[in-house]
Amino acid sequence: MKRIGVLVSGSGTNLQAIIDQVASGFIGAEIGVVVSNKPGVYSLARAQAAGIRTRVIDHRLYARAQDFSQSILTVMKEEQIDLICLAGFLRIIDPLLIEAYPNGILNIHPSLLPAFGGKGMYGHHVHEAVIASGVKYSGATVHLVTPETDVGPIVAQGITAVADTDTPETLAAKVLQIEHQLYPRAIKLLIENGLEIDGLRVREKITK
Ligand code: GAR
Repeated sequence: MKRIGVLVSGSGTNLQAIIDQVASGFIGAEIGVVVSNKPGVYSLARAQAAGIRTRVIDHRLYARAQDFSQSILTVMKEEQIDLICLAGFLRIIDPLLIEAYPNGILNIHPSLLPAFGGKGMYGHHVHEAVIASGVKYSGATVHLVTPETDVGPIVAQGITAVADTDTPETLAAKVLQIEHQLYPRAIKLLIENGLEIDGLRVREKITK
Protein backbone atom coordinates (compact mmCIF):
# COMPACT_ATOMS: atom_id res chain seq x y z
CA MET A 1 0.00 0.00 0.00
CA LYS A 2 1.28 3.48 -0.93
CA ARG A 3 2.22 5.80 1.92
CA ILE A 4 1.26 9.48 2.04
CA GLY A 5 3.11 12.19 3.97
CA VAL A 6 1.13 15.37 4.63
CA LEU A 7 2.75 18.78 5.22
CA VAL A 8 0.66 21.32 7.15
CA SER A 9 0.92 24.74 8.76
CA GLY A 10 -2.53 25.42 10.19
CA SER A 11 -5.95 24.17 11.13
CA GLY A 12 -5.91 21.23 8.74
CA THR A 13 -9.45 20.91 7.40
CA ASN A 14 -7.94 19.49 4.19
CA LEU A 15 -5.84 17.10 6.26
CA GLN A 16 -9.07 16.00 7.96
CA ALA A 17 -10.73 15.36 4.58
CA ILE A 18 -7.76 13.18 3.56
CA ILE A 19 -7.80 11.32 6.91
CA ASP A 20 -11.56 10.69 6.53
CA GLN A 21 -11.28 9.45 2.94
CA VAL A 22 -8.39 7.14 3.81
CA ALA A 23 -10.44 5.79 6.74
CA SER A 24 -13.49 5.27 4.50
CA GLY A 25 -11.38 3.33 1.97
CA PHE A 26 -12.00 5.87 -0.83
CA ILE A 27 -8.24 6.54 -1.00
CA GLY A 28 -6.41 3.22 -1.11
CA ALA A 29 -3.33 4.35 0.80
CA GLU A 30 -2.15 5.02 4.32
CA ILE A 31 -0.96 8.25 5.91
CA GLY A 32 2.53 7.60 7.26
CA VAL A 33 3.29 10.96 8.83
CA VAL A 34 2.01 14.51 9.24
CA VAL A 35 4.71 17.18 9.41
CA SER A 36 4.02 20.74 10.55
CA ASN A 37 6.40 23.66 10.33
CA LYS A 38 4.58 25.24 13.28
CA PRO A 39 4.25 23.75 16.75
CA GLY A 40 0.81 23.67 18.38
CA VAL A 41 -1.36 23.91 15.28
CA TYR A 42 -4.71 22.11 15.22
CA SER A 43 -3.57 19.87 12.32
CA LEU A 44 -1.29 18.05 14.77
CA ALA A 45 -4.21 17.31 17.10
CA ARG A 46 -6.25 16.00 14.16
CA ALA A 47 -3.43 13.65 13.14
CA GLN A 48 -2.86 12.45 16.71
CA ALA A 49 -6.59 11.80 17.14
CA ALA A 50 -6.42 9.57 14.06
CA GLY A 51 -3.37 7.71 15.41
CA ILE A 52 -0.98 9.16 12.80
CA ARG A 53 2.64 9.93 13.69
CA THR A 54 3.44 13.65 13.73
CA ARG A 55 6.62 15.68 13.52
CA VAL A 56 7.28 19.40 13.93
CA ILE A 57 10.04 20.80 11.76
CA ASP A 58 10.15 24.47 12.72
CA HIS A 59 11.40 26.55 9.78
CA ARG A 60 12.55 29.29 12.17
CA LEU A 61 15.30 26.99 13.45
CA TYR A 62 16.93 26.81 10.01
CA ALA A 63 19.15 29.55 8.63
CA ARG A 64 18.85 28.15 5.09
CA ALA A 65 15.64 27.10 3.32
CA GLN A 66 17.59 24.19 1.85
CA ASP A 67 18.34 22.71 5.28
CA PHE A 68 14.66 23.01 6.28
CA SER A 69 13.64 21.04 3.17
CA GLN A 70 16.44 18.53 3.77
CA SER A 71 14.99 17.81 7.23
CA ILE A 72 11.56 17.23 5.70
CA LEU A 73 13.12 14.93 3.10
CA THR A 74 14.89 12.93 5.81
CA VAL A 75 11.58 12.35 7.63
CA MET A 76 9.80 11.39 4.39
CA LYS A 77 12.51 8.83 3.59
CA GLU A 78 12.51 7.46 7.16
CA GLU A 79 8.75 7.00 6.89
CA GLN A 80 9.02 5.47 3.39
CA ILE A 81 6.62 8.02 1.93
CA ASP A 82 5.59 7.62 -1.72
CA LEU A 83 3.46 10.77 -2.16
CA ILE A 84 3.73 14.10 -0.34
CA CYS A 85 0.58 16.25 -0.02
CA LEU A 86 0.84 19.91 0.92
CA ALA A 87 -2.37 20.73 2.80
CA GLY A 88 -2.35 24.37 3.83
CA PHE A 89 1.46 24.26 4.03
CA LEU A 90 2.58 27.86 3.81
CA ARG A 91 6.35 27.56 3.28
CA ILE A 92 8.08 27.36 -0.09
CA ILE A 93 9.86 24.04 -0.50
CA ASP A 94 13.35 23.78 -1.90
CA PRO A 95 14.07 22.08 -5.27
CA LEU A 96 16.04 19.38 -3.45
CA LEU A 97 12.80 17.99 -2.03
CA ILE A 98 11.00 18.35 -5.37
CA GLU A 99 13.80 16.52 -7.20
CA ALA A 100 13.63 13.68 -4.68
CA TYR A 101 9.89 13.23 -5.46
CA PRO A 102 9.45 13.78 -9.21
CA ASN A 103 5.70 14.19 -9.91
CA GLY A 104 5.23 12.98 -6.35
CA ILE A 105 4.25 16.18 -4.53
CA LEU A 106 0.72 17.61 -4.68
CA ASN A 107 -0.44 21.03 -3.51
CA ILE A 108 -3.91 22.48 -3.06
CA HIS A 109 -4.39 26.17 -3.78
CA PRO A 110 -7.56 28.21 -3.11
CA SER A 111 -7.99 29.76 -6.59
CA LEU A 112 -8.33 28.76 -10.21
CA LEU A 113 -4.64 28.66 -11.10
CA PRO A 114 -2.81 30.10 -12.96
CA ALA A 115 -4.83 33.08 -11.70
CA PHE A 116 -4.14 34.37 -8.18
CA GLY A 117 -1.09 32.21 -7.49
CA GLY A 118 2.59 32.80 -6.80
CA LYS A 119 4.59 34.19 -3.94
CA GLY A 120 2.56 35.88 -1.22
CA MET A 121 -0.71 34.43 -2.56
CA TYR A 122 -1.99 32.20 0.19
CA GLY A 123 -5.02 31.93 2.45
CA HIS A 124 -7.02 35.13 2.82
CA HIS A 125 -4.68 37.09 0.50
CA VAL A 126 -5.99 34.97 -2.38
CA HIS A 127 -9.67 35.56 -1.61
CA GLU A 128 -9.11 39.32 -1.09
CA ALA A 129 -7.39 39.55 -4.48
CA VAL A 130 -10.12 37.49 -6.17
CA ILE A 131 -12.87 39.76 -4.82
CA ALA A 132 -10.97 42.97 -5.60
CA SER A 133 -10.43 41.80 -9.20
CA GLY A 134 -14.15 41.47 -9.88
CA VAL A 135 -13.97 37.96 -11.36
CA LYS A 136 -17.27 36.08 -11.25
CA TYR A 137 -15.87 32.62 -10.55
CA SER A 138 -13.23 31.24 -8.23
CA GLY A 139 -12.40 27.79 -6.96
CA ALA A 140 -9.60 25.46 -6.01
CA THR A 141 -6.75 23.76 -7.84
CA VAL A 142 -4.76 20.64 -7.07
CA HIS A 143 -1.45 20.62 -8.94
CA LEU A 144 1.89 18.88 -9.01
CA VAL A 145 4.62 20.87 -7.31
CA THR A 146 7.46 22.15 -9.48
CA PRO A 147 10.27 24.53 -8.46
CA GLU A 148 8.30 27.63 -9.51
CA THR A 149 5.46 28.43 -7.10
CA ASP A 150 1.88 27.46 -8.12
CA VAL A 151 2.55 26.75 -11.80
CA GLY A 152 2.92 22.97 -11.85
CA PRO A 153 0.71 20.66 -13.97
CA ILE A 154 -2.95 20.85 -12.90
CA VAL A 155 -4.51 17.58 -11.73
CA ALA A 156 -7.99 18.81 -10.76
CA GLN A 157 -10.03 21.99 -10.35
CA GLY A 158 -13.40 22.85 -8.86
CA ILE A 159 -15.31 26.11 -9.27
CA THR A 160 -17.74 28.29 -7.37
CA ALA A 161 -19.48 31.54 -8.30
CA VAL A 162 -18.34 34.74 -6.60
CA ALA A 163 -21.58 36.32 -5.35
CA ASP A 164 -22.05 40.10 -5.21
CA THR A 165 -22.38 39.77 -1.45
CA ASP A 166 -19.28 37.61 -0.91
CA THR A 167 -16.54 38.75 1.45
CA PRO A 168 -13.09 37.11 1.62
CA GLU A 169 -14.42 35.07 4.56
CA THR A 170 -17.57 33.76 2.86
CA LEU A 171 -15.64 33.01 -0.33
CA ALA A 172 -12.96 31.16 1.67
CA ALA A 173 -15.66 28.98 3.25
CA LYS A 174 -17.19 28.13 -0.14
CA VAL A 175 -13.79 27.33 -1.63
CA LEU A 176 -12.81 25.16 1.36
CA GLN A 177 -15.91 23.02 0.83
CA ILE A 178 -14.77 22.42 -2.74
CA GLU A 179 -11.24 21.65 -1.56
CA HIS A 180 -12.45 18.93 0.79
CA GLN A 181 -14.05 17.06 -2.15
CA LEU A 182 -11.34 17.84 -4.68
CA TYR A 183 -8.17 16.91 -2.81
CA PRO A 184 -9.14 13.33 -1.90
CA ARG A 185 -10.29 12.75 -5.52
CA ALA A 186 -6.99 14.05 -6.92
CA ILE A 187 -4.96 11.92 -4.50
CA LYS A 188 -6.99 8.85 -5.43
CA LEU A 189 -6.40 9.53 -9.13
CA LEU A 190 -2.65 9.89 -8.73
CA ILE A 191 -2.19 6.98 -6.35
CA GLU A 192 -4.57 4.43 -7.83
CA ASN A 193 -4.91 5.19 -11.54
CA GLY A 194 -1.66 6.94 -12.28
CA LEU A 195 -1.56 10.05 -14.45
CA GLU A 196 0.08 10.86 -17.77
CA ILE A 197 1.95 14.12 -17.58
CA ASP A 198 2.58 15.82 -20.89
CA GLY A 199 4.12 19.26 -20.34
CA LEU A 200 1.50 21.12 -18.33
CA ARG A 201 -1.30 18.74 -19.31
CA VAL A 202 -2.30 15.93 -16.98
CA ARG A 203 -4.47 13.11 -18.28
CA GLU A 204 -5.96 10.16 -16.51
CA LYS A 205 -4.41 6.90 -17.64
CA ILE A 206 -6.88 4.84 -19.62
CA THR A 207 -7.28 1.48 -17.92
CA LYS A 208 -9.04 -1.38 -19.66
C1 GAR B 1 -6.68 26.12 2.18
O1 GAR B 1 -7.65 27.00 1.68
C2 GAR B 1 -5.57 25.92 1.16
O2 GAR B 1 -6.02 25.91 -0.16
C3 GAR B 1 -4.72 27.12 1.44
O3 GAR B 1 -4.69 27.25 2.83
C4 GAR B 1 -5.93 26.74 3.36
C5 GAR B 1 -5.60 25.74 4.42
O4 GAR B 1 -6.74 25.32 5.11
N1 GAR B 1 -3.42 26.96 0.87
C6 GAR B 1 -2.74 27.96 0.30
O5 GAR B 1 -3.13 29.11 0.29
C7 GAR B 1 -1.40 27.55 -0.31
N2 GAR B 1 -0.92 28.58 -1.18
P1 GAR B 1 -6.72 24.04 6.03
O6 GAR B 1 -5.50 24.15 6.97
O7 GAR B 1 -8.00 24.11 6.79
O8 GAR B 1 -6.62 22.82 5.14
